[in-house]
Amino acid sequence: MNNPFSLENKTVLITGASSGIGKSVSIECAKMGAKVIITGRNENRLKDTFNELEGDGHNMIVADLSNMNDIKELANECSKLDGISHNAGIAKIVPVKFVNKDDLDNILFTNATGPIFLTQMLLRSKKIKNNASVVFTSSLSGIYCVHYGESMYAASKGALSGFAKGAALELAAQGIRVNCVNPSIIQTHIFETTGVLSDEELKEKIKNYPLRRLGVPTDVSYAIIYFLSDASSWVTGNDLKIDGGYTLI
Ligand SMILES: NC(=O)c1ccc[n+]([C@@H]2O[C@H](COP(=O)([O-])OP(=O)(O)OC[C@H]3O[C@@H](n4cnc5c(N)ncnc54)[C@H](OP(=O)(O)O)[C@@H]3O)[C@@H](O)[C@H]2O)c1
Repeated sequence: MNNPFSLENKTVLITGASSGIGKSVSIECAKMGAKVIITGRNENRLKDTFNELEGDGHNMIVADLSNMNDIKELANECSKLDGISHNAGIAKIVPVKFVNKDDLDNILFTNATGPIFLTQMLLRSKKIKNNASVVFTSSLSGIYCVHYGESMYAASKGALSGFAKGAALELAAQGIRVNCVNPSIIQTHIFETTGVLSDEELKEKIKNYPLRRLGVPTDVSYAIIYFLSDASSWVTGNDLKIDGGYTLI
């Protein structure tokens, strides 16, 4: 039976694969039949993801995507791609009055500039096949809403989602689709870096979610699989909210 969500015969590059959402995307894409090229900074954690991949023909490349040379090397080492899932990202909670240039540069580069130039280098070297799909993990923050202290993070994700729309328009002639997924809180390491919550605080937070729970990595990776698969072949330039109904209230 033809499964429109299958990733058989597709090669997909996945950044941020050593943790959280990117790790889940890697494992689930491999289950759907893709050959995956996974990348992250931390070699041991990346190896852990690699060891969990079903099937064979996968590859792993260690790279620091806050460094332009590593981005170039990663683009050079990649084979031709049917899909890219950009997940590498960082967050820091800082009130506007305390924003400083180093933090801002770091967040903007890791979350926006890096993924933008990685995409450009792959395009220029013709590594992104016609009819391929590029998916950026953006955020609810900066596109649909924002929380206190998130101005730098929101700026980086706003930039990423804006770039994705421009790229979607320009690359449509080659059948290349570009979309974003926009999660609210997903329980991963990045969420913990923005402050550990007590059980009571967690309960309070969940009250803001009509579907009565926070997100888990597969809530996002299943949506990314949809965008990477032929099921979404007429869908481009989107920001898809994945938020348990958070923005409804
Ligand atoms: N969790 C949420 O609530 C949430 C909500 C909305 C959007 N997002 C977005 O989802 C994406 C994935 O986050 P996550 O929740 O899965 O967090 P995570 O568990 O902290 O994972 C972040 C990933 O990004 C990688 N990374 C960070 N800086 C990097 C760099 N300079 N070079 C290469 N890789 C780098 C990390 O690699 P190492 O392991 O090597 O450090 C890790 O694989 C991020 O873009 C984040 O902004 C998350």
